[in-house]
Amino acid sequence: MTGPLKFTLGTLGTFGNLGTLGTLAVAGLLAALLPTAEIMAQSTDNPSDTSVPNPYPPGTPMTMPMAVPTELTSEAAAITQQFVGTLLPTLQLAMAAGGPLNAIEVCAVEAPAIAEKLSADTGWNVRRVSLKTRNSSTAQPDFWEIMALNLFDQRQRSGEQGADINLAEVVAGEFRYMQAQPAAPLCLTCHGTDIAEDVRSALLRHYPDDKATGYTAGQIRGAISLRKSMP
Ligand code: HEC
Repeated sequence: MTGPLKFTLGTLGTFGNLGTLGTLAVAGLLAALLPTAEIMAQSTDNPSDTSVPNPYPPGTPMTMPMAVPTELTSEAAAITQQFVGTLLPTLQLAMAAGGPLNAIEVCAVEAPAIAEKLSADTGWNVRRVSLKTRNSSTAQPDFWEIMALNLFDQRQRSGEQGADINLAEVVAGEFRYMQAQPAAPLCLTCHGTDIAEDVRSALLRHYPDDKATGYTAGQIRGAISLRKSMP
């Protein structure tokens, strides 16, 4: 057991920069996959090489590097642009017409509706995810999404603009794509550090376990997440 155990601890060490949540997810997955991880670890040339920004432990079967088809990447990118291009004007209009209290209703109804319509129209699965969810019944990220969101936070902290941050990967026979959603000043009305009392209580009425506050401008609020089975 010493060999594989060393590999496990070493791997967790190198992924310490993903934050607690990511590291816990890595630990959980490794525990679940340990027999596989042991085999894979022996065939990994250099498990401590972290020069490639891959959010997975070396040897995790679902992350075997595969060519990412560029046409799927551009298709996914276009769908995320469509999402933002539909939601943002709707949100701005609702804010202008009836203030944030009115816009909360719009966010709660329109955002999931846009995701659903885009999914139906394009054949992709489209949703929004976050490490700090407001709607915990729809926005809870899976393992891959947690890794990506942690990576996005890291990239944003090291100076990249949120709008430019995305990730495309082929994972377990699926094409997956995520586009970061940075918090613009407008977003802080409902996701910021200084939320008006009436807005705060309306949010808590709808979302009693709301975790999606405390953001400052530029931080990654979440992401649009797309997936599609590989042909
Ligand atoms: C008027 C209040 C309001 C504003 C302004 C607002 N949001 Fe939200 N946001 C919400 C509500 C309400 C939800 C939950 C929607 C649902 O139930 O699906 C939400 C959910 C989200 C989610 C989905 C993940 C989760 O935690 O449920 C993301 C991502 C998000 N908002 C990003 C943004 C961004 C980026 C902006 C600025 C462009 C923004 N929001 C502006 C109220 C707002």
